[in-house]
Amino acid sequence: MVELDLIIKNGTIVTASDTYTADVGVQKEKIVSVAQDLTAGPETQVIEAKGKYVFPGGIDVHVHLQLPFSGTISADDFENGTKAAACGGVTTVIDFAIQSKGHSIMDAIEARRAEADPKVCIDYGLHAAITDWNDKTQAEIKQVIDYGIPTFKMFMIYKNEGWMADDGMLFRALEETAKLGGHIGVHAESAFVLEMLIDRYAKEKEKWGAYGHTLSRPAFTEEEAIIRAIKWAEVTGGQLYIVHMSTGGGADAVHAAKERGVRVYAETCPQYLLLDDEVFKGKNGHLYATCPQVKKPHDNERLWKGLLNGDVQVVATDTCTFTSEQKAAWNGDFRKIPFGMPGVETMVPLMYTEGVGKRGLTVNQLVALISTNPAKLFGMHPDKGTIAVGSDADLVVFDPEKKVTLRAADLQTNCDWSPFEGWKLVGYPSTTISRGAVVAQDGKFVGEVGHGKFLQRRPFGKL
Ligand code: URP
Ligand code: ZN
Ligand code: ZN
Repeated sequence: MVELDLIIKNGTIVTASDTYTADVGVQKEKIVSVAQDLTAGPETQVIEAKGKYVFPGGIDVHVHLQLPFSGTISADDFENGTKAAACGGVTTVIDFAIQSKGHSIMDAIEARRAEADPKVCIDYGLHAAITDWNDKTQAEIKQVIDYGIPTFKMFMIYKNEGWMADDGMLFRALEETAKLGGHIGVHAESAFVLEMLIDRYAKEKEKWGAYGHTLSRPAFTEEEAIIRAIKWAEVTGGQLYIVHMSTGGGADAVHAAKERGVRVYAETCPQYLLLDDEVFKGKNGHLYATCPQVKKPHDNERLWKGLLNGDVQVVATDTCTFTSEQKAAWNGDFRKIPFGMPGVETMVPLMYTEGVGKRGLTVNQLVALISTNPAKLFGMHPDKGTIAVGSDADLVVFDPEKKVTLRAADLQTNCDWSPFEGWKLVGYPSTTISRGAVVAQDGKFVGEVGHGKFLQRRPFGKL
């Protein structure tokens, strides 16, 4: 028998459907056996996991590494962002190639790959963000899907960035991808009402400070856009994925649409589950500005309910790191805050402590939300998202007893602040393995730059 490269011994294996104790054997980047009492050879690396969970690696399908945005560039680049991911138990990320108006989608993909390929430390994919629609774009959809990018993104806001897609574009993209097996992710907010509200509150920006950001982005601006996008999915038969859903009303709309048979899925993020807009009243309230905005405690509660009952199928982070120095550009004007926060490094342990530890999420539901469902919806299953013979050896040995107080200073991210600074966690990744290689140990990166590969994903992802 050929010697195994790696054995994870005696761990409690958790998949979306099962929990049991066994050893996991790895050879040449793949899981080759899941069985009792696997035998190590002289060269086999053995990781003892008694008393620990073995999860499939986390998959964060929503990150923006080194993104030029808000007049600056997000502070975690493809190297450090993927190191941070590994430290937090994430073994796959999906970033975005954003089409420039007047240029092809493939140009954006090639440019983004040139930035990412030499730097990534774990596997990664790209979504294609469509910002311009014409005959060439339409023809390109098939080429992009054949290239291995079956998931597209459209922004219903961001006119100034040149990213905004109007309803006609969204409708056409849903029609086109319905035929070819792609899906359309939407950033759903009502552009024109937002613009009006931003102008309204900006007139008194000194009075409102950072709180003006949240006043100008009430829940109904997201809810209306979600309902509108769902309507376009319903009439076209296209598959829709609501990214970073922040509202309880959005979860209600997704629930109702699914009951009617609309092909819609939804993602939320830890910040929408765990923070509310009171954070804007603090001295450093501006740091928390994201887009869409964190909402109210009742939104937090409805989104948790959505994770438990299946209305919301994916947890991702929308990582878009800006340091306090970058955020300082706001200078008292809420319209100038760079939107975004760090997240990929803390998603898995936060969701374990807050979801499994406090809110009744089972470990299997956790694995479904952070790994299996994203793998299925985004065309990577069963290579990713599960622990099975033949799957990539992307694994996390997770210590459910480990107590950690989150401190930005202790994290790998380039961010000097954390939205969860001082939060007390029980449960933390001890070892992260990417295609058979140990890439992080006890929160420290130990892998190799460039180890990650670009993932060619398959169309027709569904749950
Ligand atoms: O605030 C955020 N989310 N920044 C990144 C861009 C986006 O809308 O996802
Ligand atoms: Zn967005
Ligand atoms: Zn985003």
